[in-house]
Amino acid sequence: MSEKILVTGGLGYIGSHVVVELCAAGYEPVIVDNLSNARASVLERLERLTQRALTHYDVDIRNRAALETVLEREPGAGLIHLAAFKAVGESVEEPLKYYDNNVAGSVALFDVFERAGGGGIVFSSSAMVYGDVKVFPLHEGMPVQPNNPYGASKAMMEQVLADLAQAPGAKTRGLSLRYFNPAGAHDSALIGEDPKDRPNNLFPIIVQVAVGQRDHLTIFGEDYDTPDGTGVRDYIHVVDLAQAHVMALRALLDGAFEQPFTALNLGTGTPYSVREVVTAFERELGQTLPQKMGERRSGDVATLLADPSAAERAIGWSAQRDLPDMVRDAWRWAGAARQWGLWNDDDQS
Ligand code: NAD
Ligand code: WQD
Repeated sequence: MSEKILVTGGLGYIGSHVVVELCAAGYEPVIVDNLSNARASVLERLERLTQRALTHYDVDIRNRAALETVLEREPGAGLIHLAAFKAVGESVEEPLKYYDNNVAGSVALFDVFERAGGGGIVFSSSAMVYGDVKVFPLHEGMPVQPNNPYGASKAMMEQVLADLAQAPGAKTRGLSLRYFNPAGAHDSALIGEDPKDRPNNLFPIIVQVAVGQRDHLTIFGEDYDTPDGTGVRDYIHVVDLAQAHVMALRALLDGAFEQPFTALNLGTGTPYSVREVVTAFERELGQTLPQKMGERRSGDVATLLADPSAAERAIGWSAQRDLPDMVRDAWRWAGAARQWGLWNDDDQS
């Protein structure tokens, strides 16, 4: 009998890849996802990919009664919590929407999980908890000082999880994974990033330019203090990220951490500028991408780069894939998705 692992947000971009890696590692994922930012068709594609029937509950994590029913039916000691809203700009315009979903929803989930017997919680956090940093690479001891409501919602939930795990008699232990810039897709091209609304992230925007959905890419600033003047980020392949979740969960459930709560950066430590990403796409596509220089985007930092050494020490994980892998897999996925009619502005299935 495989060990059941609850995966909230399991039909989303990163969550679906985590589901695949959990199955490959011999676990039984139980998906909780309200489809607020995922298509129902992801489940069928996941079942094709994993060659097994998968359990999905169309439940909102803010619904305690529904969560209690799920945990009664699907008892398990592990929870990977990815369900959240993630758009920085939207969080500035609608902060209460983010605090209700990402904070109140997560508090309800953690409460029901602890009352049902607790166990290990792997929490999906973000490098956005570091805020507007001017130093790099970033290690986990850097101050947590988010500068937008989305990043604050992640920082708050790290604190909530740490306080829960440290409470006397608590049955839950917590591990927060601070992702840098996820990109790419599974090499089967059956799952990948499938933005329901217009994406803000560089990779999906470049793909939309390449398929003709956008007439050009605007590069947000070329006057940063970086080697070529454009923004530098730590892009991490989504499959590397998903595999890190399984390794983190195993370590957490095996009691590998002395502290009840730990935070780990998940990045590669390899910097890539916007221009380098664009060049990698042009090389893969064999075509020049239409692009214009624009002003800096408010809230952007020059360089965001992880020191990934703590994750390597703590869970034995390091990234195995590089930028060409991310570009190739993102492009392959985009081609497949368009055949199914995804990635179309008018498609809402
Ligand atoms: P996504 O939107 O593709 O996936 C999130 C999933 O959670 C969706 O399937 C959505 O339907 C579900 N969901 C949202 N609110 C829910 C609720 N109240 N109840 C049940 N299901 C709910 O996003 P993603 O890129 O896969 O991100 C997954 C996690 O990783 C999020 O917590 C996000 O904050 C975090 N993260 C993402 C990035 C990134 O660049 N993609 C970077 C750092 C951290
Ligand atoms: C990358 C680089 C832009 C678009 C975001 C979220 C963050 C996290 C990860 C959730 C920057 C430049 C982008 C474009 C451009 N998600 N760019 N033209 O901002 O580092 O992080 O995703 O936790 O919360 O903010 O990623 O892909 O938006 O930008 O020049 O059309 O590409 O300036 O230098 P970012 P991004």
